[in-house]
Amino acid sequence: MKIGEKIHWVKSCPSTNDLAKDLASNGADEGTVIFAGEQTKGRGTKGRVWFSPQEKGLYISIILRPEKPDISLIPLLAGLAVRDAVFEEEGIRLQLKWPNDLVWERRKTGGILCESSFLGNRVNFVILGIGLNIGHKSEDFPEEISPSAISLAQITNNNLNRKKLMERLWDTFTYWYDQFSQDNSQEITETFQEHSLFSPGENILISTDLDNVSGRYKGIGIHGELILEVEGIDKSFFAARIITKKNRGGEFCF
Ligand code: BTN
Repeated sequence: MKIGEKIHWVKSCPSTNDLAKDLASNGADEGTVIFAGEQTKGRGTKGRVWFSPQEKGLYISIILRPEKPDISLIPLLAGLAVRDAVFEEEGIRLQLKWPNDLVWERRKTGGILCESSFLGNRVNFVILGIGLNIGHKSEDFPEEISPSAISLAQITNNNLNRKKLMERLWDTFTYWYDQFSQDNSQEITETFQEHSLFSPGENILISTDLDNVSGRYKGIGIHGELILEVEGIDKSFFAARIITKKNRGGEFCF
């Protein structure tokens, strides 16, 4: 796969993931990228809105056609690729919050939205959506998300170059996607843990579709699942969101 060789640039669109889905359904190659200057209906995980103002962020979707059906590591390796690109270009050490957030001092800087289409048990395509806050000032964020969101420009005084960052991302993504294709899952999960916001042993609270569960964070499993020790038993979670962790006083906080 050669990622970034074919890029569809659009000034504005509802969501790059939707454009990518249309292209993929019509046979677009793996590695095709859709880049938008703004999104009018940018989507986050769990039906949330991804705030996508003109020229402030990176809004891209990548079409993937993985050969194996076990695709749960893709959001994790995408997070690693973005983390590496930001570090190599800007020297900023973002942390990863399982499964798909990039954070700086607990404020969200970027996120991954992975959507897939299967034909039977074969993957037809995966749309990997990446959103990264780059040039926003604090007043550019809506009031309700401003305290919990941050852009790279707020972290560093450097002049940020979206194009250079994106080009770096093609390299870092290719590296991590190759690890995935070559079944080197351990490299992905171990490196994810290295840059994770949470350390093994911490008490965390997660929300699943059914309820909230608290337990001791054990790490990331080989399929990208979160492992939590709950009342002495290790439990795996594939779809959940980490809400909080316990502070030294024993209170859940974030
Ligand atoms: C999240 O909730 O953390 C995931 C955010 C993903 C946002 C990106 S921006 C490009 C792509 N198009 C979308 O509509 N969403 C993703």
